[in-house]
Amino acid sequence: MLDMESSSKFRFIDLFCGIGGFHQALSSLGGECVFASDIDKECQKTYFDNYDIAPVGDITQVDEKTIPEFDVLCGGFPCQSFSKAGNRRGIEDARGTLFFDILRIAKHHQPKFMILENVRNLASHDSGQTWKIIHENLLEIGYSVSEEPIIFSPHFIGIPQHRERVFILCKRKDLGEVPFFNLQPNKALKCNLDLILQDASEIDSEKYALKPDLIALIDIWNEFIQGITTPLPGFPVWSDRLRALDFNENLELLPKWKKNFIIKNNDLYEKNREFIDTWLIKATNLENFKGSKSMLEWQAGKIENPNIWDTIMQLRPSGLRVKSPTYFPALVAITQTSILGNKKRFMTPRECARIQSFPDSFKLHSKDSTAYKQFGNSVNVKVVLLFATFLLQPETFDPSEFHLEKTSSY
Ligand SMILES: C[S@@+](CC[C@H](N)C(=O)[O-])C[C@H]1O[C@@H](n2cnc3c(N)ncnc32)[C@H](O)[C@@H]1O
Repeated sequence: MLDMESSSKFRFIDLFCGIGGFHQALSSLGGECVFASDIDKECQKTYFDNYDIAPVGDITQVDEKTIPEFDVLCGGFPCQSFSKAGNRRGIEDARGTLFFDILRIAKHHQPKFMILENVRNLASHDSGQTWKIIHENLLEIGYSVSEEPIIFSPHFIGIPQHRERVFILCKRKDLGEVPFFNLQPNKALKCNLDLILQDASEIDSEKYALKPDLIALIDIWNEFIQGITTPLPGFPVWSDRLRALDFNENLELLPKWKKNFIIKNNDLYEKNREFIDTWLIKATNLENFKGSKSMLEWQAGKIENPNIWDTIMQLRPSGLRVKSPTYFPALVAITQTSILGNKKRFMTPRECARIQSFPDSFKLHSKDSTAYKQFGNSVNVKVVLLFATFLLQPETFDPSEFHLEKTSSY
């Protein structure tokens, strides 16, 4: 509900802009970016290459008075704890955090709308204290804000990525109440992974193909899941714990969760002893079967005739994580690039761009590891487009375009 005059051309600022997930969405709605900020030099480069705007650095050093006028403030700000010292109140509670910078800029400029984004954990962070302070502060500087943080993931709208994030929608009080978001995914919706994948002819196959030692490692884990006769484990398999219990070891000294996993691994071993003894000899002969690679996190559920090469995997510090190929695992900022089992290769940066709904015209950072990190940090463009249309242009918002429907419970 921007003024008629400005509805086709509103002005927005992109705080903590990264590579411009918000920018993509807001500019596609007719917005003009008048200011962007990110402290990361590589993000600044990618942003400039794509939008011809040079983001300024550390926002804490920017005087709010120097920022040009704007209608919409966007910001996927880092989640930080607020002081629990207790005596301070309102905006003072937030001082020293990056949310404080959003507040001081918003307080000074009083934009019509704000769209803020954060990790899922923000909703429960510090036992709800973080959300409470954010909410109170936004109300205090003159905004109508949804009572609860909205938790949303791209897979709700047909994009094959599980990535739950918190969205906070704000509308300046004199413009009315922020609309209540009561939409839920259409249950029949299926995500199509094929829309994300690049054709083999477009890919440097040598660069993204799995190396023989990684193939051998995955093969050995495949033998494991196919060889055990008990149900696929829903707990982490720690190969160094696939052995008889050592009664000299006092498990009571360990944290409860660890003791629990050790007992489960031991139980798995006892029920498959003969197979595991032979398998372990073969596995430990592999040079790379150590550390996190000697652990497995089967998260693909119950499958008949399981084949690890039909799944999507990630090498994580906690082990080789195996997921069913219905969705891509959430992109993360560190390099744990997903492995596409049936293609025997890693995902490409372009495919990561696609699961964040960036258009194919988006110019990728020239270094793959940086590009992966940037998409891992980014926000999904189509999800922002959904919330931006819902908030800024409700007259054109059609939930069915996003495969959403009204919840019956409201
Ligand atoms: C979660 S990412 C946001 C990504 C962005 N929404 C996108 O679509 O790419 C948070 C960003 O905040 C930036 N950041 C952290 N501290 C900052 C500061 N003091 N000033 C400006 N940017 C900062 C980080 O470099 C990072 O790119």
